[in-house]
Amino acid sequence: DGSHILVLGQRFGNVLVGIQPAFGYEGDPMRLLFERDFAPTHAFSAFYRYVREDFGAHAILHWGTHGALEFMPGKQVGMSAGCWPDRLIGSTPNFYLYAANNPSEGTIAKRRSGATLISYLSPPVTSAGLYRGLMELKSSLQRWRQLDNDSNERPALEEIILSQAKAVDLSETDIGKLVNAVHELEYTLIPHGLHVVGEPVSDDEREELLRHVAEASTDRDVDLAAMDRLLREDHEVPALLRALDGRFIRPVCGGDLIRTPEILPTGRNIHGFDPFRIPSVFAVTDGARQAALVLDTHAAQGGAMPETVAMVLWGTDNLKSEGGPIAQALALMGAAPRFDSFGRLAGARLLPLADLGRPRIDVMVTLSGIFRDLLPLQTKMLAEAAYLAASADEPVELNYVRKHALALAAESNIPLEEAALRVFSNADGAYGSHVNQLIDSGAWTEEEELANMFTTRKCFAHGRNGNATAHAGVMKSVLKGVDFAYQNLESIELGITTVDHYFDSLGGITRAAKQAGGQEIPVYIGDQTRGKGQVRTLADQVALETRTRALNPKWYEGMLKHGHEGVRHIECHLTNTMGWSATTGQVAPWVYQQFTQTYVLDEKMRQRLADLNPKAAAKVVHRLLEAHRRDYWQPDSETLEALERAGEELEDKLEGIGMEAAA
Ligand code: BEZ
Ligand code: MG
Repeated sequence: DGSHILVLGQRFGNVLVGIQPAFGYEGDPMRLLFERDFAPTHAFSAFYRYVREDFGAHAILHWGTHGALEFMPGKQVGMSAGCWPDRLIGSTPNFYLYAANNPSEGTIAKRRSGATLISYLSPPVTSAGLYRGLMELKSSLQRWRQLDNDSNERPALEEIILSQAKAVDLSETDIGKLVNAVHELEYTLIPHGLHVVGEPVSDDEREELLRHVAEASTDRDVDLAAMDRLLREDHEVPALLRALDGRFIRPVCGGDLIRTPEILPTGRNIHGFDPFRIPSVFAVTDGARQAALVLDTHAAQGGAMPETVAMVLWGTDNLKSEGGPIAQALALMGAAPRFDSFGRLAGARLLPLADLGRPRIDVMVTLSGIFRDLLPLQTKMLAEAAYLAASADEPVELNYVRKHALALAAESNIPLEEAALRVFSNADGAYGSHVNQLIDSGAWTEEEELANMFTTRKCFAHGRNGNATAHAGVMKSVLKGVDFAYQNLESIELGITTVDHYFDSLGGITRAAKQAGGQEIPVYIGDQTRGKGQVRTLADQVALETRTRALNPKWYEGMLKHGHEGVRHIECHLTNTMGWSATTGQVAPWVYQQFTQTYVLDEKMRQRLADLNPKAAAKVVHRLLEAHRRDYWQPDSETLEALERAGEELEDKLEGIGMEAAA
């Protein structure tokens, strides 16, 4: 507070429940972000020192995915005494209650903070269902489908249908397509509430969960009876106690329950994969299919065959799919993995142009810091694929990698190898583009600043030897030609508006491409959460998540059951949505209008949020006003006044309880 360092927490006998300080400086989050070789704040380091030395903890239990300790600066693996995670936690045993579906970030916690992970279940899933205007629309559509083609009721009913669709901001005017759109909204899977450690899922939730597992398991054997039994039991608290007793925690591969039922029982130490088998044969086959799907989707949107695609690769999506997204990037370039005689990954090879049947597409990949840490062999393989394509003796009309690399090499007078760098990530030991932090703090004026933050943080190019060096010039030159940006979505629990990392990476690169090339580019999401995958435009994906989650009583009531934390989740949805507006400009204004309708203009709901979590409620109101100020939507004067009034009410309330609004 300016003169003291405060360690926040509450003591219960031998147990201290502490609150890990934030990553940056409270009230000045930008300060850390612009420092090159930053160190944890005094508050952060004092917290761990207090726990270790003053409190004298025998063990630390980090509670829930994920914290800041394991992301502090230092080496990626093999921490030394000079690396911050090690300096902070020392030799104190670290147990970490961690989401079973997040093996990638979990691996960082193991490598960089010596954690023993103890897995917990992600929230149950349910189909979104319909509500209010959507239900009315569905019943009209059902009626319409039952009518004969020449029924004279048709024209009037069609008019009603179109006005009902308009009332829920569905702009589709083809009735057959509306039927599909409403079907998709009804059957999209969403998380239902939050998981509570120590409480098995309810009977209803368990039944529905098993039904979705069965539906997803047509081509494999799943022991549903065993799953049913395991889901009735609590394996998590017993595992925590076992760990604190210094006993063994059994290992298991991480994954999503629907795709990977083997994650049960939870309460186990999750790990990733065999790095030499990625991408697998299955991933290579499926990757080619998904690559064709995104090209077809782009063509259906009226786009020409792209010359350059910007693809974001994460650790999670690749770990859970044996390298599916990596294989997609290779397929776009017309390349494949090369294995040695032991079947271990050895590099990349080109597929013959004749087999490809289209030009090699120039693929710029942006790796998360986590991918870079977890998949060094695959990082080198992708760099090798780009280099092989650039140096192949092929006509440039059939090889866009070569076309662009030759042009850049000539223009900038650099070697072809340098001009063929296509694999970008952070500097060693750094994670994320920090565009998410800019959005969260609101500390930015022009969208250009977001682009600059992205390119400054993510311009480190990996060559064939795996080493990374800053190459902002090459990055900007490739960005200039990007025709669309693309990323896969792999979890039902975490949508692109649930966590801020999607707009941080995919949104960030979209903004950077616009800055470099001068025009907006399309953005696509490859939804791999169900069936054979589906590609949607960003606008459609945001609309789908808004309708099935943020505006859906089933979703928000599930959240609000968890009180304070539920309101925070609602606020995150809104902030992440605004992150997409800021980075891509592709969010429809009705999203903000409907959000306001549901959470602010509705008197009862406004009160509920204010009572449960006034700080997050105030953040919701301020964020909606900020979105208006930045011109992402234009509320009418009545709505605007209501928002301003709600903002003042909430600030008074916060002041009354001695808290500051997050404005
Ligand atoms: C990853 O697995 O690469 C990742 C996970 C969460 C946020 C960003 C990246
Ligand atoms: Mg993270």
